[in-house]
Amino acid sequence: MKYLVFETKKEASKEAYKILKSLINENSTLGLATGSTPTDLYEEMIKDHKEGNYSYKNIKSYNLDEYVGISYDHPESYHKFMDVNLFDHIDIDKNNTHVPDASAENLDQALENYQNELNNTTIDVQILGLGGNGHIGFNEPGTPFNSGVHVIDLKEETIKANSRFFNNDVNLVPKQAVTMGINDIMKAKHIILLAFGKEKKAAIKNLIDSDIVDESIPCTVLKKHPSVYVLVDKEADFRN
Ligand code: F6R
Repeated sequence: MKYLVFETKKEASKEAYKILKSLINENSTLGLATGSTPTDLYEEMIKDHKEGNYSYKNIKSYNLDEYVGISYDHPESYHKFMDVNLFDHIDIDKNNTHVPDASAENLDQALENYQNELNNTTIDVQILGLGGNGHIGFNEPGTPFNSGVHVIDLKEETIKANSRFFNNDVNLVPKQAVTMGINDIMKAKHIILLAFGKEKKAAIKNLIDSDIVDESIPCTVLKKHPSVYVLVDKEADFRN
């Protein structure tokens, strides 16, 4: 595992983009995350694309998760997030992008379909954010390391943290999400995890500065992966 500390989110994101670019080619498959963490990385991708340096024409993508109970048109749905923050600004074919279908009438079937798609693909690089409680994707503490695509009940602390996107009203935050499982995440060839802000420091300490590998702190599973890059700002650095 490589651990890199930067002054700012922007600097870390620029380096993350360099690492990402070194690991993929123009036919690669990306695993993508949402939330506040990857936004500057996505800006770097857009900038480089607009400068003519990178085409996403043949790139495929699979997103980690989506809320249950809000429509795709909701401004905070992860479908919408991906369009607004990345897909609408690059030349990716939207037919090659995949976000879990958490609004499906038959949710069980939708989970099975997403699992099948993931089983039939290899994610070259998985981008991850990090929950303050150590979640990756929406695999909350206690999720089995061998889990596949599933519906998760979001923990109270996650609902509280994400209420900042919902008028600071926890009642407006969806209580469940569909997420790739930990086993799906671990199958990616390379993983780039980003974490910014002091809320992430404890989880980073468990990941970088402990021997813990335990389902109660989901991110600790990454110690078992052969190619992980962890980029943080100084506020998330466990030594601070
Ligand atoms: C989002 C995801 C989550 C977030 C995490 C951190 O697709 O999978 O694990 O990465 O909750 O969220 P932010 O980046 O908003 O702090």
